[in-house]
Amino acid sequence: MNWTENLKNKISNNTAIIGIVGLGYVGLPLATAFCSKYKVIGYNKTEEKTEQLRCGKSYIEDVKDEEINLDMLNPTTDHRELAKCDFIIITVPTPLREDKSPDLSYVNHAGEEVGEILQEGQFVILKSTTYPGTTEEFLTPVLEEKSGLKAGIHFGVGYSPERVDPGNKEFCIENTPNVVGGLTPEFTEICALLFEGITGDVIQVKDCKTAEAVKMIENIYRNVNIALANELALIFEKMEIDIWEALEAARTKPFGFTPFYPGPGVGGHCIPLDPYYLSYRAKHFGIIPRFIETAGEINDFMPIHTVNLVRKGLSRAGKKLRGSHILVLGISYKANISDTRESPAVNVIEELAENGARITVYDPYAESIKTRLGTYHSENSFETHISQVDCIVILADHDKFKKNQQIIDALKKNVVVVDTKNVLNLKESDEPFYVKI
Ligand SMILES: NC(=O)c1ccc[n+]([C@@H]2O[C@H](COP(=O)([O-])OP(=O)(O)OC[C@H]3O[C@@H](n4cnc5c(N)ncnc54)[C@H](O)[C@@H]3O)[C@@H](O)[C@H]2O)c1
Repeated sequence: MNWTENLKNKISNNTAIIGIVGLGYVGLPLATAFCSKYKVIGYNKTEEKTEQLRCGKSYIEDVKDEEINLDMLNPTTDHRELAKCDFIIITVPTPLREDKSPDLSYVNHAGEEVGEILQEGQFVILKSTTYPGTTEEFLTPVLEEKSGLKAGIHFGVGYSPERVDPGNKEFCIENTPNVVGGLTPEFTEICALLFEGITGDVIQVKDCKTAEAVKMIENIYRNVNIALANELALIFEKMEIDIWEALEAARTKPFGFTPFYPGPGVGGHCIPLDPYYLSYRAKHFGIIPRFIETAGEINDFMPIHTVNLVRKGLSRAGKKLRGSHILVLGISYKANISDTRESPAVNVIEELAENGARITVYDPYAESIKTRLGTYHSENSFETHISQVDCIVILADHDKFKKNQQIIDALKKNVVVVDTKNVLNLKESDEPFYVKI
């Protein structure tokens, strides 16, 4: 029996051993999903996270402690343990450099570590988000060089985009369709067999770069549509049209329209970064991606616009930004999660503080947020501060803030409220100190 048949057998009789490289927002839920069927070796660089897992403690909101099954999961900081695996799935970060070009150093490093232990008959799958071509043209050569083996002959390679949506209570790995593409048609089939056991439907595409393109399409679609909503918000503000009311009415069209909403900017490890991966790659093919980059510019402007709205609100109250006390509500990048990576709150806070405002922050999920001017820690509650500040800026649509009566009471007592997510859902025309995007 050749090694590919051997892998298929191991999948079907649940004896495959799965290695996950990078146990973060993507890697840990994936590891726990695989644990329902297979032994998993979870390799993460940081001792702290590994130690927590060894004690049965999760550090990701979407994974409960009781889902950490240590009979099936072996957390380790030693990459040599990956030598025992049949499949090695890489889920390391893919950030941007300062100049917005892709930083593939984590993928490179993970590839070198995997390459060191790689043996004939193993299968490597990349799940980090990246531009089309990375798996075949970037990762595979690293694996080959380090191992001295040849992809396609001695080991398998595939790509599968990750669709996890932190905080989403409806969709998780188990009920979300999963896309796979391999270096060869047989590798695509093997990837599909592997994921069929743990996810929703599996969609096979021609090759790795098509699978990589799928993720680019999904995130760029979100990014440009959010940018469009933001641009419309800027236009409608001048026309004194409430974009939220208009969008609610527009979404009643039963076909051909999906609503996207404006806000203080985009955040997280995906939407603000991933489009630039494709943008970077497109330039190698002589195409200047105007649409994608314009969307990025519009979204990047929204934190500045938010600060302008604070100025507008304060001036209605006869106050200036300099010297005002601002309460920032919501520092995570989206509703009901604690992740502050790339959160627009960073830029809003920096801009407010640099213009002489005094800042207090509160978030029911995130403990603190790092900015250029230092780390801001969340207060334990916001109720005590609410009537003492000059302005409240709401940046995240956490459930706790929706139609919150204490914020509305503060507004009635002439505290300026800037609502970038329409969480109070009031009309600006009814409330002199209420300003919304
Ligand atoms: N967070 C999301 O919602 C999401 C959704 C879809 C796709 N993605 C993509 O998935 C990838 C991972 O994102 P994430 O949010 O899970 O990142 P993360 O920072 O939460 O986790 C990455 C983990 O990898 C570890 N790590 C880094 N280098 C390593 C190495 N060489 N060996 C072992 N461990 C290493 C880090 O310590 C960290 O624990 C990125 O490409 C991201 O764009 C993320």
